Amino acid sequence: MKTRSVNRLDIITIFPGMFEGPLTQSLLGKARQRGLIDLRLHNLRDFSADAKHRAVDDRPFGGGAGMVIQPEPVYRALKHIRGSRVAGATRQVGDKPYVVHLSPQGRALTQADAQTLSERPWLVFICGHYEGMDERVMKWVDAEVSIGDYVLTGGELPAMVLADVVLRLVPGVVKDVESIRNDSFQTNRLDHPHYTRPALWRGKRVPAVLLSGDHERVRAWRSQQAECVTLKKRPDLVI
Ligand code: ADE
Repeated sequence: MKTRSVNRLDIITIFPGMFEGPLTQSLLGKARQRGLIDLRLHNLRDFSADAKHRAVDDRPFGGGAGMVIQPEPVYRALKHIRGSRVAGATRQVGDKPYVVHLSPQGRALTQADAQTLSERPWLVFICGHYEGMDERVMKWVDAEVSIGDYVLTGGELPAMVLADVVLRLVPGVVKDVESIRNDSFQTNRLDHPHYTRPALWRGKRVPAVLLSGDHERVRAWRSQQAECVTLKKRPDLVI
């Protein structure tokens, strides 16, 4: 059976401009141009209940530092996104998007999680901010994802990381499927070393086996090198 893959991603953010570079250039930019991914940015302020100031945050009940994202704008944004599935949709997407909240409290992202997410046809990322979101919207969140045990100023950079990790797994985004199969973490082993021309550079030679033309020997060498590199750099990956 052919696995499905994500073909639509909606991102809810208060800083849509931050996404312009990363999502318009390079492989993701090309994937969008080629219609492989329907990627839509939504400014949370457009869904504010406060038409005058377009505020989306308020002080926390119970006191304390910082501001909290109000539930109403998030709810409205999600409702708008869900309702847009037919109008303007270029491809068939699932009925219901899978909603991910980027937060340092989320489960730490792994390549395996990225693979699972990439098989969902429709994703929504909500970029958290300030002290966080009003807990009552968590009812509409399917997963909380963290990109690591450190705190960024907001969920935008983590959303870009997650978008990149997930979308590069969509068939056709990366031309050479083999390069994905050999990725570090795809197999719990880091990648083998790579070399390119010239074969002799500043007195340093490329390992002779790579010039031998013997594919079986090259494969065995790479496998053994991957093992060594993993043991040396990330022994924790070796069970
Ligand atoms: N927002 C702030 N820090 C974050 C992190 N580490 N992962 C995801 N979202 C975040």
